[in-house]
Amino acid sequence: MAQLIDGKMISAQIKDELKEEVAKMNSQGTTVTLAVILVGQDPASCVYVRNKKRACEYIGIRSISCEMPEETTQEELLAKIRELNQDDSVDGILVQLPLPAHINEDAVIDAIDPAKDVDGFHPRSVGALCIGKPGFVSCTPAGIIQLLKRSGVAIEGKHCVVVGRSNIVGKPMSLLLLRENGTVTICHSRTKNLKDICRSADILVCAIGKPKFFTEEYIKDGAVVIDVGIHRNAENKLCGDVDFEKAEPIASKITPVPGGVGPMTIAMLMSNCVEAAKRKAQK
Ligand code: GUN
Repeated sequence: MAQLIDGKMISAQIKDELKEEVAKMNSQGTTVTLAVILVGQDPASCVYVRNKKRACEYIGIRSISCEMPEETTQEELLAKIRELNQDDSVDGILVQLPLPAHINEDAVIDAIDPAKDVDGFHPRSVGALCIGKPGFVSCTPAGIIQLLKRSGVAIEGKHCVVVGRSNIVGKPMSLLLLRENGTVTICHSRTKNLKDICRSADILVCAIGKPKFFTEEYIKDGAVVIDVGIHRNAENKLCGDVDFEKAEPIASKITPVPGGVGPMTIAMLMSNCVEAAKRKAQK
């Protein structure tokens, strides 16, 4: 039977640590401010944005809300970002994705000052991660590293298999595991012998985007299984990319869905905001 990696508890721990750190910063005259831009009213995005603002409130981070209508032009959005880039009181800028179809996401991400890029999506942030320079790291993979470290999972020398190569999860995840001295294999939709490769993993990160895809056939005895997926089944119940009932008897440690990787994303966003404010204060 696998031990559960409790993302709810670990993210709460991180938020409490940040709350203490922000209180100390405040007492020394440093504030932390996150600007959140939401264009349109996508229901899922509204929920995410609300949760991010709540986390800010809990920790003591000031959040500025920039809600812009669906018809906002790309130029108007870029102008807003330029204004926030120049505003010294703003430490972090987050543009909630997806954006309406008439706006080019790459151009928007490029416009964010890398020093305020708390999502870690700017090409400069990604490049810095790639060559081992300081910069902000995408929150979900950064959260997974925290889950592993705080659950006592050693990464060094381990065979880490990442299934998925997205810019937000798979690629930065692979680079972070490599930075922790893991031996990393990246798999994707064209990978041959996926089962065999997964079954050779000591640490298996599942970010394939297919509900309950990873069964016992993909998992080595005693492997650590991290489930990045989140789906709703026919009965409106949440499930991940891993078939939990089948994987759990084989794995040594496993993240549940919900309550595994999910809560870590916001915790790491908060951590990036605090880091941005600290870097600014040191300048
Ligand atoms: N939309 C879904 N996830 C994310 C995220 O982590 N950051 C942003 N900015 N938008 C998202």
